[in-house]
Amino acid sequence: MCGIVGYIGENQAAPILLEGLSKLEYRGYDSAGIAVFNNNKIEVAKAKGRLAILSEKTDGGKSVHGTMGIGHTRWATHGEPSDVNSHPHLSNSGRFAVVHNGIIENYISLKKKLMDNGVEFISETDTEVIAHLFEHYYNGDIIETMIKVLNRVEGSYALGVLCSDYPDQFIAVRKASPMIVGLGENENFIASDVTAILKHTRNIYYLEDNEIVVLKKDSVKIYNADKEEIKKEVFTVDWDVSAAEKGGYEHFMMKEIEEQPKALRDTINPRIKNGKIVLDDISLTTEDIKNINKIYIVACGSAYHVGVVGKYVIEKMCRIPVEVQVASEFRYCDPIIGKNDLVIVISQSGETADTLAALREAKDHGARILSIVNVVGSAIANASDDVIYTWAGPEIAVATTKAYSTQLAVIYLIAAYMAEKLGMLTSGEYAKLVSDIEALPDQVAEILKSKEDVQYLASKFFNCHSIFFIGRNLDYAVSLEGSLKLKEISYIHSEAYAAGELKHGTISLIEDGTLVIALATGRDLFDKTVSNVKEVKARGAVVMGVTTEEHDNMEDVADYVVKIPATNEMLLPSLTVIPLQLFGYYVASLKGCDIDKPRNLAKSVTVE
Ligand code: G6P
Repeated sequence: MCGIVGYIGENQAAPILLEGLSKLEYRGYDSAGIAVFNNNKIEVAKAKGRLAILSEKTDGGKSVHGTMGIGHTRWATHGEPSDVNSHPHLSNSGRFAVVHNGIIENYISLKKKLMDNGVEFISETDTEVIAHLFEHYYNGDIIETMIKVLNRVEGSYALGVLCSDYPDQFIAVRKASPMIVGLGENENFIASDVTAILKHTRNIYYLEDNEIVVLKKDSVKIYNADKEEIKKEVFTVDWDVSAAEKGGYEHFMMKEIEEQPKALRDTINPRIKNGKIVLDDISLTTEDIKNINKIYIVACGSAYHVGVVGKYVIEKMCRIPVEVQVASEFRYCDPIIGKNDLVIVISQSGETADTLAALREAKDHGARILSIVNVVGSAIANASDDVIYTWAGPEIAVATTKAYSTQLAVIYLIAAYMAEKLGMLTSGEYAKLVSDIEALPDQVAEILKSKEDVQYLASKFFNCHSIFFIGRNLDYAVSLEGSLKLKEISYIHSEAYAAGELKHGTISLIEDGTLVIALATGRDLFDKTVSNVKEVKARGAVVMGVTTEEHDNMEDVADYVVKIPATNEMLLPSLTVIPLQLFGYYVASLKGCDIDKPRNLAKSVTVE
């Protein structure tokens, strides 16, 4: 979950590398470094801490000369964040410089062997073995050396490698970690994702596992593990550059919150034609849907929370049993799963290590995989039988908002699509459901118009030490996300509880002034949740109720009330989550937190 950029061309490399890395800081921000080929040798600059420190140290890159280089922004796994553990890592002679994203699982045995051969290690990282392996196997041919190194390492990697014997080229490879190649005019790039190079080119190659790429300023050649050249199709990215820029917002997170109506429209509208949901992207036939025995939803973090909504929605609409599980558990639980089961895998990045491993586990059991992914061509998308893309555009803030919302929208589309195929809805119900889904983007926009109301509430509670979220069924599912949003960016302790479960222990934590955010949007369970609100009020809690305009008696029990528009009960999570995202954002902002880059987190989690 580190970020990598590489450049070769006619311009000074270091400022381009730093600028590219600034777009990848969401992948890690413990330390950063660059290696640039200059005067027949490799010059390295590194700094612990944010990229800004490295930038200052190198005068925005101006003090490091040369037109070919590699750069890295790190999320520490092996060895604390420090200058010495930062990438790039050099071989002892200084001939090779390596940047790496991923984990070399057998690095300890490799390190021992290399040390027995007299190699000196200076860092605690797994990556350093790669630099030394290059030196060890080097026979004057960089591609052959790369192949030998790849034969020795186990694990996941995206690698960028400079060799001082090759002043006009550098080399890269990936396996189970992302890397794309950017194709420019007299300049070429590698990067962990397109946002890092979008300013320079929209033409890219997606690399498959273990494809080795050799970049010169005027050519890019790709080889397989037998050193045979491979031809690839150029993919043109149609994102607007501004999609990956803050565009006047103080934080990406607020920009992305505000982008939700558009992201939802982009995700929903192309899939509704003449009042019908059209999922051209998937090959699942009506027969296949009828034969589904059970659905598993597997994901991590907020994507898992979408899965919790999905369980309620799909079970209710399709009457197919759904089990939702976090990927890190699913992959090791020896799941009882077979060829008549459908596994829905949800991931913004398409590269989360546990989610990818869970997908493979399910596939090994013969299950069919339908993934919901935001990043085109990502590992999870490639490994799935069917993919439905969320068209959220690049999401930069570590705390997800628009990806979560678009994933929810896709869940609704899948549920309604399958329910219709299964004959679970009358034509009238189906038509109304489809038009309610289509109305969601405007309803989200409507809620966002009163964001100052939520800001006011945040100003009352940003000093709280602990905040509880409660709700039942779908409201509980959204509580999970509201609580995560708040804690991950504001560092306030928070828990989400099924409202009826609170009294089995956690209510003992409620004391005078504890804030409880009670979600009571659904019709059937409104009164039940109101009873739970009364229970916490009786123990001194201050309650902020979130409900729809249909309910006018929340005011009688709660101290503060946030209203959202009414819609089909199943779709309410799309609306309920908006004030919760805003609340988390404003609380974190009032506390002066680093909202887009919360401590200890990274957006793409490519380690177990
Ligand atoms: C990280 C992010 C979360 C995200 C989770 C899963 O923890 O901070 O926002 O939900 O990873 O990521 P994915 O890319 O698989 O959706």
